[in-house]
Amino acid sequence: MPETPLPEAPSFVLWIEGLPCAGKTTLAHAVADRLGAAGRKVQILDGDEMRRMFSPELGFSRKDREFHARRVSYVARMLAGHGIVAIVAMITPYETSRQAARAEVAGRFVEVWLRCPIEVCRERDVKGLYARAAQGGVARVTGVNDPFEEPLRPELIVDTNRLSVPQSTDRILRYLAEQRLVPAVPAA
Ligand SMILES: Nc1ncnc2c1ncn2[C@@H]1O[C@H](COP(=O)(O)OP(=O)(O)O)[C@@H](O)[C@H]1O
Ligand SMILES: [Mg+2]
Repeated sequence: MPETPLPEAPSFVLWIEGLPCAGKTTLAHAVADRLGAAGRKVQILDGDEMRRMFSPELGFSRKDREFHARRVSYVARMLAGHGIVAIVAMITPYETSRQAARAEVAGRFVEVWLRCPIEVCRERDVKGLYARAAQGGVARVTGVNDPFEEPLRPELIVDTNRLSVPQSTDRILRYLAEQRLVPAVPAA
């Protein structure tokens, strides 16, 4: 069967990646709120939540992480195909997964790398993951004892250790507007 092309009505997949605590969930919601306020239909696909619902049987091996990313990218493409902006917030440590997601979406794929040093992420430790990893309580924590491959071709890099949440949100929205994926969105 031929691939279904994305419709002209410009929807897209915004794929936000980075280390734990880089700011993926925070910025996914901030961007979604702004797009929602501008009248767009938006669905967030957050890594943790998606794992619970879609991949409870999967672990954190390379193979399992890649398989999980495949599932999420498949859903993201379906949503985008119906004019919904799909915002994925997922660590996505492997370049193969990013490229597979890009190929799956086959069109408007915007990869955003939240580049934040591990020291800053560890300091933030929103969910206590790094603390538990330091005590040896969690195997395979990305950035600690599991790899995060440097993204090779993100559309946008946001240094969330240097920018505030509103500045990071504006940066992403400005990029989307530059690409004419959204109209110029007024600053909050
Ligand atoms: N520029 C920024 N962008 C996103 N989050 C930031 C930024 N600066 C500080 N933070 C803080 O970092 C934390 C990121 O947590 P979270 O969004 O849950 O990360 P992740 O989903 O990547 O694990 C939040 O407490 C957020 O307020
Ligand atoms: Mg998160």
